[in-house]
Amino acid sequence: MKAAYITQTGPPEVIQFGDLPDPKPSRKQCLIKVAAVDVNPIDVYVRSGIIPAKLSFPWILGRDLAGTVLEAGTSVKRFKPGDRVWASNQGTDGRPGTFTELASVDEQWLNVIPEGVSEQEAVALSLVGITAHLGLMRDARLKSGETIFVNGGSGGVGSAVLQMAKALGARVVTTAGTDEKVRICRELGADLALNYKAQDVDAAIKEFAPQGLNVWWETVREPNFERAVPLLSLRGRMVVMAGRDARPTFPVGPFYVKDCSLYGFAMFNAAPREQRAAATDINQWLSERKLKARIDRVLHLSQAAEAHRIQEESSVRKTGALAGKIVLTT
Ligand SMILES: NC(=O)c1ccc[n+]([C@@H]2O[C@H](COP(=O)([O-])OP(=O)(O)OC[C@H]3O[C@@H](n4cnc5c(N)ncnc54)[C@H](OP(=O)(O)O)[C@@H]3O)[C@@H](O)[C@H]2O)c1
Repeated sequence: MKAAYITQTGPPEVIQFGDLPDPKPSRKQCLIKVAAVDVNPIDVYVRSGIIPAKLSFPWILGRDLAGTVLEAGTSVKRFKPGDRVWASNQGTDGRPGTFTELASVDEQWLNVIPEGVSEQEAVALSLVGITAHLGLMRDARLKSGETIFVNGGSGGVGSAVLQMAKALGARVVTTAGTDEKVRICRELGADLALNYKAQDVDAAIKEFAPQGLNVWWETVREPNFERAVPLLSLRGRMVVMAGRDARPTFPVGPFYVKDCSLYGFAMFNAAPREQRAAATDINQWLSERKLKARIDRVLHLSQAAEAHRIQEESSVRKTGALAGKIVLTT
């Protein structure tokens, strides 16, 4: 099979596209003909070595996939050949990556792709969709009628959080770095979308939510608690999920006297059962078109190095090169 892989960490040029041995599925696994994969910032951090990870070379890139079951192992109960499926949380914890033409995936990580939903859409909402779901439902417990601020609403995670919050009946205020991305946020359903480079975001939030924000979802790697805490409501919740090196100051007094809570999580820690519960809702909302994939561009798997270069520009150098996901087809 063809695959995109590395034999050492480094810049995007270390990515090779070539032949690797076909995987051999176990009894608990399905062999998948991969149709589409996507890029997440974590792929860039691991490939570049920014986040040191235990890698065995050749290391296949990628966390998510969507495709068709070719073979189902003898213990597999929920899938049969021909089923269209998506999966996330591969390429970690000893599981091989997804940037391949063929992949063996444990049944516990697989979800059906709903009718009428393409492989590209499903894969583009896999890791970011599960992340959004865990943070909103399991942790912040966002309720209908509440107000949420999503800092970075046109990105992969932010666009999923924004749409799920709307599906849950919340009011959404969000930010983006250009007027075009602000327009995208409005299109995705934001009640108020602001250009964080050109507008006084905090003043607009105060006007939009005079009682304070019920939830602040931070997607940027440098959370600013001095800014966020005063804007939270009584019993406000804040979600942080990026910025491993971030060590910001924290205003303890203003935080606890309002009974606020802070949630941090990494989606890769969630058990398969938790991830499948998230996938069930994601599939439902995808079918109902309440959730739409925010795909910035589609490339071919052989262009994995180019895809990483663009993602790195956007995520690490913050050039704003992307508005959503890069999807790669096989
Ligand atoms: N903990 C977890 O489980 C988990 C899961 C997924 C992702 N993550 C992490 O979450 C982060 C976001 O991931 P992603 O896939 O959404 O990345 P992304 O698609 O690159 O989006 C990044 C977002 O940040 C926004 N942004 C950048 N600077 C900003 C600023 N100063 N103010 C407001 N917004 C700003 C960008 O907006 P503009 O382009 O408009 O500037 C963009 O919307 C990454 O660090 C990723 O590693 C963590």
